[in-house]
Amino acid sequence: MTAPKKLFIKTYGCQMNVYDSERMAEAMGGRGYVETDRPDDADMILLNTCHIREKAAEKVYSELGRYKGLKAEKPDLKIGVAGCVAQAEGEEIMRRQPLVDLVVGPQSYHRLPELEAKARAGEKALDTDFPEEDKFDHLKARPKAKRAPAAFLTVQEGCDKFCAFCVVPYTRGAEVSRPAARVLAEARDLVERGVREVTLLGQNVNAYHGHEGGLAGLIRELAKVDGLDRIRYTTSHPNDMDDALIAAHGDVAELMPYLHLPVQSGSDRILKRMNRSHTAESYLRLIERIRAARPDIVMSGDFIVGFPEETDADFEATMALVEAVRYGYAYSFKYSARPGTPAAERPMVDAAVADDRLQRLQALITRHQREIQQEMVGREVSVLVEREGRVPGQMLGKSEYLHAVHIEASTAAIGDIARAKVVDSKSNSLGARHL
Ligand code: SAH
Ligand code: SF4
Ligand code: F3S
Repeated sequence: MTAPKKLFIKTYGCQMNVYDSERMAEAMGGRGYVETDRPDDADMILLNTCHIREKAAEKVYSELGRYKGLKAEKPDLKIGVAGCVAQAEGEEIMRRQPLVDLVVGPQSYHRLPELEAKARAGEKALDTDFPEEDKFDHLKARPKAKRAPAAFLTVQEGCDKFCAFCVVPYTRGAEVSRPAARVLAEARDLVERGVREVTLLGQNVNAYHGHEGGLAGLIRELAKVDGLDRIRYTTSHPNDMDDALIAAHGDVAELMPYLHLPVQSGSDRILKRMNRSHTAESYLRLIERIRAARPDIVMSGDFIVGFPEETDADFEATMALVEAVRYGYAYSFKYSARPGTPAAERPMVDAAVADDRLQRLQALITRHQREIQQEMVGREVSVLVEREGRVPGQMLGKSEYLHAVHIEASTAAIGDIARAKVVDSKSNSLGARHL
């Protein structure tokens, strides 16, 4: 028997890339590859890339540059670029960095084994089509090996919203939902492999229409799967939060009380220019309805500061919205002009002004995050134990609210859902006592 070839995958960007990397590694198993965590040990290096901001895309080229020496030492080494930079730049990547052998866009991963064979034969291999067929139909069924208790599961891909700043509709294509039956089958397989929590993924996951009852219908079906105890979903768009989904937060015990619902800005003028088609007020009313259904829900969001023509008054409106919501988590980014998007043509805000706004917003978000964590002290939580800590007897996992929790002197095993009392709040985690 020949020794297996080794595949090193480096993943950038969002959770969907994490999921895709896992599926690509499984597909490459069929070509005789096993995964390695060392690029210098690999026969193939695959970068699964992100194009969302300029920095993310530039990282890819600096990483590729680092592999020059490796490729010189090991001429058989194949280097591939997958993900959203692959989709956005295609052939241009091979021109800019000739050591790249293979470029594959997110909708063509089922063709990866074929492309690898082509690259092995010494040809340049490229596929960035948006084929009619579902890539997941063609990716190999997942193997049955045991795995970590929390998993991602892509149910919807692509976006039709075209926010003025965003590349995703171009890199991931139009919204496509996977049929509910296929999602349910994959969820059952994951449960057999030890999974107790799934996070349903989609660029606009709540636009899911692979079940007649939408995402809420899918969640209700998944909640019936024996052994699947926790369900989450991300990322949702405010305009697709329908009554059925809000109701599910109130009465589906398996649906965890955490929701990532990006708003981007608190200024209606900017929201309009962003093409978000909701207002700050409609967003706040929506959160009221969600909190009425599930009062203890922890909210999370995304913000862009320094969007073209953002004034001080616009930024203050964002600060006011954050004060009104009090997010348990929120991610804020300085606007990055992306080639091909409408906003890239508009006048930029002064970089120093944008930096200053970002700092102020992040300080406010951090204050709320710490306060909300502090409010957890003294409460009982359920922790899905994911791994062992550094100290003997310490186990690490996530609460229902997605807080990182370390339980001291615990008898729990990986995969248990442990009841614990929160005794302490650190900067990014909670300490708890096993009950
Ligand atoms: N589909 C999700 C995620 C999109 S990307 C959604 O609709 O929210 C994740 C986040 O990156 C976005 O929510 C936004 O806050 C940020 N982002 C997207 N494009 C950006 C850009 N050009 N500059 C800065 N941040 C951006
Ligand atoms: Fe991008 Fe807007 Fe679509 Fe989210 S909803 S992926 S921010 S275009
Ligand atoms: Fe990045 Fe593509 Fe995800 S641009 S955020 S990897 S969808």
